[in-house]
Amino acid sequence: MNNWTYRKSVTAHDELAEHHRLARTLSWPHLVALGVGAIVGTGILTLIGVGAGKAGPAVILSFAIAGLICACAALAYAEVATMIPASGSAYTYSYVVFGELIAWIIGWSLILEYSLVVSAVAVGWSGYVSGFLASLGWGLPQAWIAGPHAGGILNLPAIVIIGLVAAMLMAGTRESATLNAVLVLVKMAALALFIAIALPHFQASNFEPFMPYGFPRSGPSGSEVGVMAAAAIIFFAFYGFDAIATAAEEAKNPGRDLSIGIVGSMVVCVAIYMAVAAAAIGALAYTRFADSPEPLALILREIGSGWGAQLLGASAVIALPTVILAFFYGQSRIFFTMARDGLLPQGLARVSSRGSPVRITLFTAAVVAVIAGLFPLDEIAALANAGTLAAFVAVCAAMLVLRRRDPGAERKFRAPAAMVIGPLGILGCLYLFWSLPAQTRWYFLLWNLIGLAVYALWAQRQAARSRAPA
Ligand code: ALA
Repeated sequence: MNNWTYRKSVTAHDELAEHHRLARTLSWPHLVALGVGAIVGTGILTLIGVGAGKAGPAVILSFAIAGLICACAALAYAEVATMIPASGSAYTYSYVVFGELIAWIIGWSLILEYSLVVSAVAVGWSGYVSGFLASLGWGLPQAWIAGPHAGGILNLPAIVIIGLVAAMLMAGTRESATLNAVLVLVKMAALALFIAIALPHFQASNFEPFMPYGFPRSGPSGSEVGVMAAAAIIFFAFYGFDAIATAAEEAKNPGRDLSIGIVGSMVVCVAIYMAVAAAAIGALAYTRFADSPEPLALILREIGSGWGAQLLGASAVIALPTVILAFFYGQSRIFFTMARDGLLPQGLARVSSRGSPVRITLFTAAVVAVIAGLFPLDEIAALANAGTLAAFVAVCAAMLVLRRRDPGAERKFRAPAAMVIGPLGILGCLYLFWSLPAQTRWYFLLWNLIGLAVYALWAQRQAARSRAPA
């Protein structure tokens, strides 16, 4: 068999895993917290403004479309993750179902996703921390809170938060997951507070005209606007449940815990987002918050609740790091798994006495900090979405292939109507990908070409060597 069609069996994977075993310390409350912690973040707090700028009040529709597509993917994830409860998420599922080449492409896309989400959320955090400090009269100089695209030099707060989260991760998974659970409560309370303050200011007239930029991708000026362009960005707000799947190997009871973790956190988040989006659009004309680095806080200030804005800002500052933490965690696990399979340098897979891969964490921190320091949020998020969409397509396809190839295999979680939600997930993700800015799609292609070159020139030989009997 060619190297690139080599398929890993789950058992072989488990045997390999013996050498670099991660500790099983997480149960389902940890996983739901990890899921909600990873999902609710910069998407709802900041990109809601970018989305409203592209779609107008119809950004509500964008939320519904992106949520529906993510729900299909979440169900496929839950089924496949419980069948293949090994670390590595979509990368590992692709290795088992499609073979090494597709696994490599998906792993390479996941590296893009997880890294850029860390960068994007750090930039979102920077927006809220700067606004919060300014509201206390301690405004930071523009040069140090934005990259060159916004007239600044470097987004320093974004870099600082990445450094802090990296340090936490290196201190050990268990402590981080528990702290994460506490901070998730803070974040939910902040969104509930936003809805409670904004809802009494609801004006139906703010929803008129409902769809000023139309539905499809290209606007009259050639700029990418409309409901689908917004959905392609808003998509960012919904994912994160896949970060739970990367923790499969550390779950105490993967079959039950992962299904509850993935599906549960997804459902909770969709409901909350719809409520926040409706409250936001109803309270203030979307044009007034579309470009803000902290739109939800701005809305509260504009409707006269300075204290509400401060409380929301403070909660975002305290709680957004949970998103960074979850994706950073997921990133190090993807790297770890690929290195363990021989597709990335194996020295990277070394785990410290505290059970965390220190080298990968340090390496990732350096790269994502540079990106967060220099680039604008919407561009980083769009590229992260491209990587995620590729992974979601692979997972939906893996579910369908496994149903056909191995219909009798035990499924601890069976996705309902798999033959509908699988294709719907795939087509939906492809449509979202097509709705991303053209530049993003080109960058994604370039990233994959680099990936394929690395695979052809180095990775496939290394992986074959690591499989050969000693
Ligand atoms: N869904 C995560 C967020 O909105 C990535 O920040």
